[in-house]
Amino acid sequence: MSGHGKAIPMTARAGGRLSGRAEVPGDKSISHRALILGALAVGETRITGLLEGQDVMDTARAMAAFGAEVTDHGGGAWSVHGLGTGGFAEPEDVIDCGNSGTGVRLIMGAMATSPIAATFTGDASLRARPMGRVTDPLRLFGAEAHGRAGGRLPLTLKGAVTPVPVRYTVPVPSAQVKSAVLLAGLNAPGETMVIEAEATRDHTERMLAGFGAAIRTETTTEGRVITLTGQPELRPQTIAVPRDPSSAAFPVCAALIVEGSDVLVPGIGLNPTRAGLYETLIEMGADLSYENMREEGGEPVADLRARFSPDLRGIEVPAERAPSMIDEYPILSVVASCATGATVMRGVAELRVKESDRIDAMARGLEACGVRVEETRDSFTIHGMGAGGVTGGTVCATHLDHRIAMSFLCLGLATRRPVGVDDAGPIATSFPVFEPLMRALGATLERGAA
Ligand code: S3P
Repeated sequence: MSGHGKAIPMTARAGGRLSGRAEVPGDKSISHRALILGALAVGETRITGLLEGQDVMDTARAMAAFGAEVTDHGGGAWSVHGLGTGGFAEPEDVIDCGNSGTGVRLIMGAMATSPIAATFTGDASLRARPMGRVTDPLRLFGAEAHGRAGGRLPLTLKGAVTPVPVRYTVPVPSAQVKSAVLLAGLNAPGETMVIEAEATRDHTERMLAGFGAAIRTETTTEGRVITLTGQPELRPQTIAVPRDPSSAAFPVCAALIVEGSDVLVPGIGLNPTRAGLYETLIEMGADLSYENMREEGGEPVADLRARFSPDLRGIEVPAERAPSMIDEYPILSVVASCATGATVMRGVAELRVKESDRIDAMARGLEACGVRVEETRDSFTIHGMGAGGVTGGTVCATHLDHRIAMSFLCLGLATRRPVGVDDAGPIATSFPVFEPLMRALGATLERGAA
């Protein structure tokens, strides 16, 4: 939902166990990157399992606006005929990235070292998010950025005419910032270096290596040092996008808190830089198992089985785990509400600048459901009420945030009274089949606010 449509209220109520297979869609992070790197390679990249959510579709449209030939072959199969590093053409119109921070930040990086200008915008959520974290390093390459106050969108980026390589230490743990710098470094001569103190998702590095770029990662006392040699000829690839672990988190966590449930999520990506939630859930006593572990397209993949877990315990989630589960704190806070004892999440300040302020959005909704929470700028504590202990009986505000909407709908499957959301529309950005998939597992989801 780009924020322009009519709100879609939705309500979840307890209605028995969840069971069956949950075939969640393709990974959002990998889907964006496949389209963008495909557009920067010379020739045709073929992609299967692409997430056809609105965020990724906005990126597909953007790549076409920069001159790539993007073709939908049906059933998640796409091809991108790329233009080569530095081959982007100047778009004729404004690039609207909808709700997607990943889309806009990666695309800004990809064009920042080409001698073209582009103006970017997005929905109300995206227009409120900080872009200085990306435009600051892009300026070091020689790009110019003119945005609203605080560097916010709409923003015009003029790519560097004579780009220079950059050595940049990312000030916040952010794969989007790291990736924007690496993508900009593709069209700068010499070596671009990115240093990150904490490891964030490494799909860009893996995929750049797959496309034939010279890229290496070393672990030093400063953290991870990634060095990319600029101006490679990227070779087109065949990419099978694994299923999204961040989307899988919703049926998995719902199964853990709904009595009698047993759900299998096949083929989900389990890149260690994304798997922090599952480690946390196991520490909390979740009945989770990995089956059939394998590697597909350079990413580790497994089938994940989740069963109702009546004895979940609150734990302390260490700050250093945050980057590997940054998108999963909303649904973790739902599970924590159904556990006994306190779950303390530290080092989570980044949650305040996601599609919404996710600490605030979850805190207000959980409180309205009868859960006691505590928050500081960078920590979030949930006092769990045990299995079946959460009252519910409210409609939660989702602030154009897909993960807030899905989290409260999962909670409503396990509460004494129904839980509604004011707008389920944004779910289409990342998990367009959430509603039918959850219903097929046995969830009671109804259109409208109860
Ligand atoms: C993403 C990185 C994360 C994450 C987002 C997707 C990516 O953002 O929250 O949903 O694909 O690189 P940050 O890198 O800003 O933490």
